[in-house]
Amino acid sequence: MGSREGYDAAGYGDQVADLYDRLYGPDEQAVACLTDLANGGPVLELAIGTGRLALPLAAGGLEVHGIDASAAMVAQLRAKPGGDRIHVAIGDFADVEVDGRFSLVFVAFSTLFALVSPQAQLRCFTNVAAHLTVHGRFLVEVFVPDTSRFVRRHHLSITKVAEASVLVNASRLASNTQRVDSLMLWVSDAGVRTWPVRLRYCYPDELDAMAAAAGLRLEHRWCGWAREPFDDDCARHVSVYVRA
Ligand SMILES: C[S@@+](CC[C@H](N)C(=O)[O-])C[C@H]1O[C@@H](n2cnc3c(N)ncnc32)[C@H](O)[C@@H]1O
Repeated sequence: MGSREGYDAAGYGDQVADLYDRLYGPDEQAVACLTDLANGGPVLELAIGTGRLALPLAAGGLEVHGIDASAAMVAQLRAKPGGDRIHVAIGDFADVEVDGRFSLVFVAFSTLFALVSPQAQLRCFTNVAAHLTVHGRFLVEVFVPDTSRFVRRHHLSITKVAEASVLVNASRLASNTQRVDSLMLWVSDAGVRTWPVRLRYCYPDELDAMAAAAGLRLEHRWCGWAREPFDDDCARHVSVYVRA
């Protein structure tokens, strides 16, 4: 699995945009939790993608803004009912180049880890902090790293099985830099499609340290969108930061 020419912030979305909504469905619990925390809005989603979460938030009456690097993903969002009402900036979400302040900024689906250096992740926290209202919140949903899954630095998993297709993830770990490079394989009767996913994972306390450096503090950490208590068994967490 080598580096593919042209992989950049937009690379993932540009390669998967036409398939994305067949792979990942709606999440009502996430939308309910985000709606509650938004406190009336406005809301900014980092890496808004095809609008899986943003569109139902807007349909519920919130003013929703988004940032995404991939014009192809945003074109999918625009093509859906209500897609024209969402304000989307094309760019790198680490820079948060949008005007205004938001009562809720969020990045879901472990996409914070798509920023593959600690510097970019910290830059994201700092720029988000500058876009929060006085009582605004920054919500991050990410997986809890589990390097025990890797055998000799490699891991193969089946992510989704459907009647006539399977989504497989082949990953390679570089623990010194907290990097995981994956190749996704979508196998169906139409053939095999592949696309790379690159990420830099971090542990919850490292996120809290970045938040503190950006002038934020942890308000809540849950095990999921239903606000289950966070403990050592949680595979992911929903963390909410506010101004320190
Ligand atoms: C897994 S999708 C998540 C989309 C949406 N948030 C959801 O929950 O369905 C990841 C998205 O992040 C975007 N992305 C990845 N890295 C980015 C970056 N550095 N800046 C802006 N967007 C980025 C991709 O284009 C893609 O739309």
